[in-house]
Amino acid sequence: MYPLRRNRRLRSSEAMRSLVRETLISPNDFIVPLFVVEGKGVKEEISSMPGYFRYSLDHIKKEVRTLWDMGLKSVLLFVKVPDTLKDNTGKEAINPDGLMQQAIKTVKDTVPDMIVMTDVALDPYSIYGHDGVVGQGEILNDDTNAILAEMGLSHAKAGADVLAPSDMMDGRIFEMRTLLEDEGFDHTAIMSYSAKYASSFYGPFRDALDSAPVDQSEIPKDKKTYQMDFANRGEAIKETLMDIEEGADIVMVKPGLCYLDIVRDLREVVDVPIAVYQVSGEYAMLKAAAEKGWLDHDAVMLEQITAIKRSGAQMIASYFAKDVVNLL
Ligand code: PBG
Repeated sequence: MYPLRRNRRLRSSEAMRSLVRETLISPNDFIVPLFVVEGKGVKEEISSMPGYFRYSLDHIKKEVRTLWDMGLKSVLLFVKVPDTLKDNTGKEAINPDGLMQQAIKTVKDTVPDMIVMTDVALDPYSIYGHDGVVGQGEILNDDTNAILAEMGLSHAKAGADVLAPSDMMDGRIFEMRTLLEDEGFDHTAIMSYSAKYASSFYGPFRDALDSAPVDQSEIPKDKKTYQMDFANRGEAIKETLMDIEEGADIVMVKPGLCYLDIVRDLREVVDVPIAVYQVSGEYAMLKAAAEKGWLDHDAVMLEQITAIKRSGAQMIASYFAKDVVNLL
């Protein structure tokens, strides 16, 4: 006891602190989300995500080379789909020449070793902005699963390494895994958004893809019948264990900072890697506060990323990935 034990001895200098530091951040920790748009020479800043862009395929080539050179070795692809290609069936989502399928090939052709992860959900393709097929005023679970499995297969055929279903339908991991096995894609991994909460932090992302749920009578205005209630903790364990049984290789908690208790709970009970998605609203909040001069951007960013890893995440999907690696 005091004064025999003085904790400050091990905090006395940066060298001493680095010797006893428990959580280290490296480029290996990150998954970089990328927004892809049609066209050529397009690099558009997303207004609610300062410093973050939508890229056409030619710019995607440049961007993935840059990322690879920085030591960032996995990307998570999202596409912005023109209104004319949206419907209520996800037809464009399984088009072998669709923008997502082209983007996968583009990344693989440019940097063959880059890990390509793909978003599997219908919202960018949906006239209603929902992750599944809408019918009778609901999001139809099993009809959606059949399409998601086809969508996953088409990404695998284009060369995706990891499918990332972000939709929260029941049983979709099983459907997807079964179809992959049947079609000989047993090497394609699945990263399930297993504990994804109905969060208000997704706003800027929906701006980026123009994918917000429509405000129309008879159509649910939010995603609360499939994404989880943010009041629940035990349910996250149930959801996640089920996804692992169904064949998920990696599980995910989303959003990040408000949900680190969930990461810690899962770390105790699952034997697969856990990813955290630090989402668009978390990015936007810090950018806005830093712009006003109210927070020190880099210091707060590092503190947040470290907290996410400290909680038990093995990997972090983050819009800050490049900013962090530039700082290291
Ligand atoms: C949709 C999807 C969302 C995000 C990733 N995939 C939004 C939503 O569920 O409405 C959010 C990511 C972010 O906010 O950065 N399937």
